[in-house]
Amino acid sequence: MRASLILAFTVLAVVSCLLGTVMMPQSTVGGEKSSLASATQPVNLEDDGELVPVEEDMHEFMEYVFQPTYKRLKVSMATAPADNAGWKAIKADSLSLAEAANLIIMRPPGEDAKDWNKYSVDVRNHGKEFYTSARAKDFASATKHYKAMLNSCNDCHKQFEDGKHILTP
Ligand code: HEC
Repeated sequence: MRASLILAFTVLAVVSCLLGTVMMPQSTVGGEKSSLASATQPVNLEDDGELVPVEEDMHEFMEYVFQPTYKRLKVSMATAPADNAGWKAIKADSLSLAEAANLIIMRPPGEDAKDWNKYSVDVRNHGKEFYTSARAKDFASATKHYKAMLNSCNDCHKQFEDGKHILTP
């Protein structure tokens, strides 16, 4: 009886160790930087899962998700942040825009979806560099990637909005 209990606990301990390594590879690699570099995961929703926008109207989506974030960044990126709180604001907004760029892809236009997706991926990639620079508190690099991101926002606005909403840093 006691022997089988001990065996059961040993098996349990081994299994949970293995699971821990399999399920949390990033945490064992450690370091802030390495967790950023993780590869994109395939979307894995079970059964009825499908990615669907909450707000289907592109105007509302841009107005409530992108516009306020952009306006805050314009203020926080005007000069190099003096403290942690300043950097935190930039990290939060750059990450929000980079992640939200993925969501634009869920809202394809009637035509030229390829261009649409390219601009969205460009925004995401520049946004990621921007966020990464903000984490490193490198204002020169953050500024460079912030501007590059806005250029990609504008590329889409030029093609799909007849040049309306041209954003400046
Ligand atoms: C792939 C296309 C695409 C990308 C990329 C894109 N936008 Fe837009 N954006 C649109 C479209 C389309 C509209 C116009 C929506 C409407 O009014 O119907 C718009 C409108 C806007 C507006 C005006 C909203 C209003 O209330 O008038 C702002 C601000 C804006 N976008 C910010 C951004 C920012 C910031 C980024 C980049 C971080 C970005 N957009 C990236 C397609 C895009």
